[in-house]
Amino acid sequence: MATIAHLSDVHFGRHDPAVVAALETCLIERRPELVVVSGDFTQRARIDQYEEACAFVDRLEAGGLPVLGVPGNHDVPLYDVVRRFVRPLSRYRRYIDEELCPWFESERLAVLGINTARSLTIKDGRINRDQMRIIRDRFNAVPEAKTRILVTHHPLFAMPIGEEEGLTKRVGRHEDALLAVADAGVHILLAGHFHRSYVRSARDMVENAGPALVIQAGTATSTRLRADEVQSFNWIHAHRNDAIDLQVFGWDGLTFAGGSHARYNFEGDRWHAAVAEPVQE
Ligand SMILES: [Fe+2]
Ligand SMILES: [Fe+2]
Repeated sequence: MATIAHLSDVHFGRHDPAVVAALETCLIERRPELVVVSGDFTQRARIDQYEEACAFVDRLEAGGLPVLGVPGNHDVPLYDVVRRFVRPLSRYRRYIDEELCPWFESERLAVLGINTARSLTIKDGRINRDQMRIIRDRFNAVPEAKTRILVTHHPLFAMPIGEEEGLTKRVGRHEDALLAVADAGVHILLAGHFHRSYVRSARDMVENAGPALVIQAGTATSTRLRADEVQSFNWIHAHRNDAIDLQVFGWDGLTFAGGSHARYNFEGDRWHAAVAEPVQE
């Protein structure tokens, strides 16, 4: 099937319960092969917020859906200085996942999550040398035909987030991270953090980037929205390594409604957008 529901920035503590309930119903009905949550599970890394995020993940798993998540900058305590610097992700590991480099592999997919949230910076992300080695090692051991997907909270690229705001900061060690991703033959990069849906070929953003398709998710359930965005998630159907359908599901006040499908084909040295017919699942 090779379908992925890509959610991000669920921000329990700043969530809309009606949106959460509708999201769960939608996902359990549609039965993706994997649910990816690309960070910011909570608003302020408080225990009650983690308990709600944990219950959300538990309900999806009880509905038969595997969940792969990575922490976001909001999942590191901000004001509790001891906790922030001594054990920044202890609550994440207790309530969400002990594993900070989660891995999912199936007949068609190989998906790796990497933690980019750090204690020393409030908002910005970073990748370290060990993580780059893990990216290379894990994906290089995967059969060629599988679609290789890397999940981070912070996008690896500077992203356009609005005409006035310009481009965002790039992830720390950006150049080396891109080399690792290119060496690993990653097909799709999934991230969040900016609460805006976005998709583009990596090579159209940075000429020496590898051949990945960059897919950003908006916030799925937070009430903190950019002016022209609604809560949303991405529905990704990887037909092969070189053909992917992407559909954005947006909250319409009552339910999550699917927007038009876009087909992305890999041709030459990069991904190109084409209009796709709706897919029979
Ligand atoms: Fe966020
Ligand atoms: Fe974030």
